[in-house]
Amino acid sequence: MIKEYIQTHQQRFLDELFDLLRIPSVSADSRHKNDVRKAAEYIVAKLNAAGADRVELCETKGHPIVFGKKIVDQSLPTVLVYGHYDVQPPDPLDLWSSPPFEPVIKDGKIFARGSCDDKGQVYMHIKAFEAMMKLNQLSCNIKFMIEGEEEVGSDNLGTFVKENKDKLKADVILISDTAMISLEHPSITVGLRGLSYLEVEVTGPNRDLHSGVYGGAVANPINVLSQMIASLHDDTGRVTIPGFYDSVISLSEDERKKLNEAPFDLNEYKKDLNIDDVRGEKGYTTLERTGIRPTLDVNGIWGGYTGEGAKTVLPSKASAKISMRLVPNQDSREISELFTKHFLSIAPKSVKVKVTLHHGGQPAVTPTNSKAFKAASDSFVEVWGKAPIPTRDGGSIPIVSLFKKELGLDTVLMGFGLDSDAIHSPNEHYGVKNFLSGIETIVTFYKHYSKQ
Ligand code: BES
Ligand code: MN
Ligand code: MN
Repeated sequence: MIKEYIQTHQQRFLDELFDLLRIPSVSADSRHKNDVRKAAEYIVAKLNAAGADRVELCETKGHPIVFGKKIVDQSLPTVLVYGHYDVQPPDPLDLWSSPPFEPVIKDGKIFARGSCDDKGQVYMHIKAFEAMMKLNQLSCNIKFMIEGEEEVGSDNLGTFVKENKDKLKADVILISDTAMISLEHPSITVGLRGLSYLEVEVTGPNRDLHSGVYGGAVANPINVLSQMIASLHDDTGRVTIPGFYDSVISLSEDERKKLNEAPFDLNEYKKDLNIDDVRGEKGYTTLERTGIRPTLDVNGIWGGYTGEGAKTVLPSKASAKISMRLVPNQDSREISELFTKHFLSIAPKSVKVKVTLHHGGQPAVTPTNSKAFKAASDSFVEVWGKAPIPTRDGGSIPIVSLFKKELGLDTVLMGFGLDSDAIHSPNEHYGVKNFLSGIETIVTFYKHYSKQ
């Protein structure tokens, strides 16, 4: 029945998703503040149309949060669906093969910023809800909390959760904002990394200097910054910050073996990225390097002259944005402090160093023995014909650990993206098949979960 409903309405589902994708809700860019709100209003309208009660646009200090619910019967379990309607900036624009906010389908995939992360995946939940309402088979209470600041660190969601614990009361959190291994190998994410994100600034002389007149006698902030950054890894790929690994939980040999049994083709991986080799911490596989090991990466670096031609200049300043991905039981605040202390300590006297904190988030592991996980697993078996493989993803959804801490709730990470969907990159896309089968899987989840 649900299959038929999806088939009958799939064109409309896609048309509606396309309307949402056309709204450039870039949360990081203040020029798009109104567009972010428009996307929130669109979600409100669609939740209302699907049959939710009293859908609210909740104001925050930043972008609004959409909250909606449908209470069928107080005695039934309640599922709280979380997702985000904001998207990453589309830059660099010239690398897109079609404009980021003009969605098109090519080779069975929807190309647009946010198609996978996370508008496409949020919209699956709205359409699953619509289908259950129309088919009169909604067997759980549902709450929706869709935010507009995930891509910039969910600054105001924490406050909203703390102030609305009653409103958010539920039995489990359901999120589709992660990836699965492939269409042939469905999987459920059971671990996410945490994040510490900092910015560093190295200042040398009080002004830009002639690199001939002063070069060799005065510290060049770019040279110094490069050396400092290079020293943050040793030649086995380990991070050198003292204490960095102290609270990392090591997996047992058995757990590592299981993790590495997940289908993964290193040659395909390299081919997809056009690299001749991978690189990372010695002694760990690629799946381990992204799933269970912490990392440090420079996300951006600038300083000096980067315009056309050559300018001989010894710059006054150099900066970099540095992120660390964290694993249980590393604490985002503690790691940021360790970084700051270490980075300041390795600075030569010839420069001044400033470290500022951007955002952070705790790592999370979700249980595989809960009723909700079992229901999710059963729904994959029913729709995809295979039991989903539990995986540890490298990305971060900081709010997952906050839900556990503030609401005492576990999360099921039922994501339908693929690593190759190019989220945050040019030409982000999302499979039409992922979208439609995702809707079916979500509906099937509710069926199994209510039976438990
Ligand atoms: N949906 C992603 C996180 C993700 C992607 C998890 C793929 C697992 C697999 C989310 O929108 C995201 O991009 N999160 C940010 C963190 C945030 C604090 C900016 C990230 O991981 O960089
Ligand atoms: Mn996301
Ligand atoms: Mn994202």
